[in-house]
This record gives sequence, C-alpha cells and structure tokens, in this order.
Amino acid sequence: MENRKIPKPTIKRLAVYYRCLENLIKSGMETVSSQELGNRLNVKASQVRKDLSYFGEFGKRGIGYQTRRLQDGIAEILGIKREWNVCIVGAGNLGVALANYPGLFKSGYKIKAIFDIDPKKVGRKLQNGLVVEDLKNFGEIVRREKIHMGVIAVPASSAQYVANLMVSSRIEGIINFAPVRLNIPETFPLEEIDISLTFRALSFQINMQKNR
Ligand code: NAI
Repeated sequence: MENRKIPKPTIKRLAVYYRCLENLIKSGMETVSSQELGNRLNVKASQVRKDLSYFGEFGKRGIGYQTRRLQDGIAEILGIKREWNVCIVGAGNLGVALANYPGLFKSGYKIKAIFDIDPKKVGRKLQNGLVVEDLKNFGEIVRREKIHMGVIAVPASSAQYVANLMVSSRIEGIINFAPVRLNIPETFPLEEIDISLTFRALSFQINMQKNR
C-alpha cells in the first residue's frame, strides 16, 4: 500500500481515528461501527468508510471494525510504530519550547539535535539535556544522529536557507513554522504549521454561533 496515493485530509483524519481508537481500546471496546466512530469525531460515517477503504479495511455489516486491528493498520500507515529522529533549527522561543515538550518524545518523535547560529545560544544546555549545536555542523550531526525530520523554527528571512540545507542533507521531510512559502522540490514531504489559522477557525466558529 502506497502512502502517496492517500489524500492529505484522509491522512489527517486517520491520525484522529487512531487517537479515538486508543481511547475505545482502553475502555474495553472490541468493535466499533463507522457510524459510532463518525459520531464521536464529527465525521460522516460514509467518510469514515471511504477513509478506511484506502487501505483495504472494511467493517463487517452489523459488527463494524475490530478496534485493535484497525488501530494497528492505521499505525502502520502513519508510521506511528517506528521511531523518528527529529532536529530543530532555531533555538528561540518556539524551537526551545518544542524541544522541551515531552509529548513528542512519547509519541515516538525524538528530538536529537537543535541548531542555531547565534554564538550566545550555541553551547547552551536546554532543560531536556540537549545542547544547542552550531548550524555549521548541521550535515555532520544529521548523518551521525540519523535524523529523519527537520523542524524550521527560524525567522522567515532565514527559512529558505535552512530549508535548502535540510533538502540537501539526508533529511526526509520538513515541518515549517516560519511564515513563508518555501521553494523546495514539489515531491519533498512538507508540513506547514500556522497557529493563527487555528485562531481564525475558532473566531469563525464563535461568529457562526453568535449569528445563529
Ligand atoms: P526567535 O527569534 O525567538 O527564535 C529564532 C531563532 O532562530 C533565534 O535563536 C535565531 O538566532 C535563530 N536563527 C536565525 N537565523 C538562523 C539560521 N539561519 N540558522 C539557525 N538559526 C537561526 O523566534 P520564535 O518566536 O522562536 O519564532 C521562530 C519562527 O517561528 C518565526 O519564523 C516565527 O514567525 C515562527 N512562529 C510560527 C508559529 C506558527 O504557528 N507557525 C508560532 C510561533 C512562531
């Protein structure tokens, strides 16, 4: 089964199904119907069935899906079972907060290195024990630590430079926090995060409620 063929919104929903299944399994549920899963997550049952059919998982009519089996299948697609080595470039407010966030480690995303160019920051030890590395040692450390993913947490003006560095190293994918559109090969795995979009979505929801 090829990941590339699954649409991005489906992949995002799979992650949400995964989290929900985790809770269902904890509460002892052995099966779940697409209707039930959909109701819990505010997704149409037909959408749930369509999403799950991408990897050949079909619920049994009247019984639904086996929760554990479904969770295993999703975990495999999302690469949740394996561990990923991550580096962060930019040891500022955001980079340091991410590096110190224990939730990522628990989910299998290991922050192996954090880089900066500011001589005042290079060599500084973070709460989690990581030492801020000089960006000039990027390639060497990425190879040594077998880094898979790079997080860009530098100002917008430096983001393209850092992205180029990541693409030309052995890094397999990038998460970009900087508010700039990166010019990188189209097929290179990239996720962009903009927290203000979440705020916008919330303010929209609030306005909708008020206008009802
Ligand atoms: P900050 O100014 O605290 O940290 C930026 C760090 O990057 C500094 O330590 C600086 O020395 C370092 N840096 C600059 N150029 C570099 C380079 N070429 N190589 C390595 N390090 C370099 O900024 P903050 O608040 O941590 O934000 C970082 C980025 O994340 C900004 O682009 C900001 O706009 C963005 N941001 C995005 C959010 C989102 O939701 N997407 C939320 C918060 C911040």
